[in-house]
Amino acid sequence: MPKISSPEVPAETPTRTLPVTLPETLNVLRSRSVVRNYAPDRVDDSLIEQLLECMLAAPTASNKQAWSFVVVREPAGVRLLRAFSPGIIGTPAFVVVACLDRRLTDGLSGNISQKIYQTSKLCVAMAVENLLLSAHALGLGGCPVSSFREEAVRLLLDLPTPIEPILMVPIGRPAQKLTPSERRDKNEVISYETWGKDAATGSAA
Ligand SMILES: Cc1cc2nc3c(=O)[nH]c(=O)nc-3n(C[C@H](O)[C@H](O)[C@H](O)COP(=O)(O)O)c2cc1C
Repeated sequence: MPKISSPEVPAETPTRTLPVTLPETLNVLRSRSVVRNYAPDRVDDSLIEQLLECMLAAPTASNKQAWSFVVVREPAGVRLLRAFSPGIIGTPAFVVVACLDRRLTDGLSGNISQKIYQTSKLCVAMAVENLLLSAHALGLGGCPVSSFREEAVRLLLDLPTPIEPILMVPIGRPAQKLTPSERRDKNEVISYETWGKDAATGSAA
């Protein structure tokens, strides 16, 4: 078979880039922390769109995508959201309000509907983590925020009844160096094979 070559992408690119990009991705995961104080810089719409695309690449149960997001970029809108969200500390460049779309979770018989509703909340959280990690990878930072006044946010954003805000995600350029927070000891939170067994011996930790 003839070898297809492209002038822009040399044939050897994938094998050359793999060892570089893989640890970099892991480094992004391991170096993250929440960012609560932001520099006053604007964030370009094109960058915001990239983040949103990464956010929407998150997994969802049964690929239901029972979610809906409102991106607030206008400074006046951000100020108003902050006024009703004690969890938003600094002034971010923009806020993504991550919501559940109950039109896709409700309507089935009692227990199933409740289960899908709960699971879909996890899916919204996964999208938010994708968003935050993408922001971190591109030199931005943010924080998942559950401390907000739901009724006020509903009014401000004109949310219809089935759209339920779950998390606010303020994002901007970090005002200072990130300081990763403490983690519980790995051995305290991870077991192997069955709960309470450590990796080396498989015996009670
Ligand atoms: C579901 C959820 C809700 C959170 N809500 C808030 C909040 O309302 N305000 C806030 O300042 N931080 C909030 N956080 C951020 C946590 O406080 C932060 O993740 C935690 O202190 C660990 O810090 P780290 O993410 O930098 O490791 C929230 C985090 C999660 C996962």
